[in-house]
Amino acid sequence: MNLLLAEVAQATLRLADAGVPSPRFDAEELAAFVHGVKRGTLHTVADGDFDARFWEAVARREAREPLQHITGRAFFRYLELQVGPGVFVPRPETEVVVGWAIDALRAMDVAEPLVVDLCTGSGAIALAVAQEVPRSVVHAVELDPGAFRYATRNASGSRVVLHAGDALTALPELDGTVDLVISNPPYIPLEERDEVAPEARDHDPEMALFSGPDGLDFIRVLSKTAYRLLRPGGLVVVEHADTQGGAVPWIFNEEAGWVDAADHRDLTNRPRYTTARKEGA
Ligand SMILES: C[S@@+](CC[C@H](N)C(=O)[O-])C[C@H]1O[C@@H](n2cnc3c(N)ncnc32)[C@H](O)[C@@H]1O
Repeated sequence: MNLLLAEVAQATLRLADAGVPSPRFDAEELAAFVHGVKRGTLHTVADGDFDARFWEAVARREAREPLQHITGRAFFRYLELQVGPGVFVPRPETEVVVGWAIDALRAMDVAEPLVVDLCTGSGAIALAVAQEVPRSVVHAVELDPGAFRYATRNASGSRVVLHAGDALTALPELDGTVDLVISNPPYIPLEERDEVAPEARDHDPEMALFSGPDGLDFIRVLSKTAYRLLRPGGLVVVEHADTQGGAVPWIFNEEAGWVDAADHRDLTNRPRYTTARKEGA
């Protein structure tokens, strides 16, 4: 084994002891980042190239700083996004939510589908939709100025139209015209704060995570905003916590005007997002 791979193995043990959920992956990612190579080519790094920057990065991860804050980047579907303190790190489970939306948009008989991403954070969802549905027109809304700065950088050169402001009152000029509203909003119950992983609790912005005692304050109002924005027959897609697979479809079923409310699971088979259609058309 070359020296670097031996160091990676040692770092893996340290990260595992610190409770990092994916210690080998993270140790390899940090080594690859420090050496400017892809994870799969780590074995090609010469022993002499190894330096203290790797152990500095490992120490930060050991203290449960998110991997993506250390590297400054997050991978999301086919995108590499800039992230760091002040913006929510996009999660793999959200990729499945976006996948549903992309499939639905491709299946729609609409030449240039109009899409709104509410609570865009780094811009991950909006940018993925714009990239993978080439004729889509995508608007994205974010209230937190710190997050909005990341979204602005990530969206530079893309077709996504960014709006700074409150998602719940946003874009009245689009009322009744939108084909699909998508959102990964704050949804963690305040009472579950102590159970949140340190990477999120100590490093994601507070307003990205929590939404009232049961976590559903935002989604209850979001259902009204989505209804206002959508055209008849338009679709809403909302991510939620794995404990909310009963409650969120119920919110849509309880409100007049929605049909086909359904809940869906993520790749780990946990309830993850709700979809519904505005009646008509
Ligand atoms: C869970 S994060 C999701 C970010 C991004 N969509 C993603 O999936 O990576 C929720 C985002 O909602 C934003 N947010 C919270 N309340 C908001 C509001 N009233 N209007 C707009 N954005 C809001 C937060 O600042 C945060 O960026």
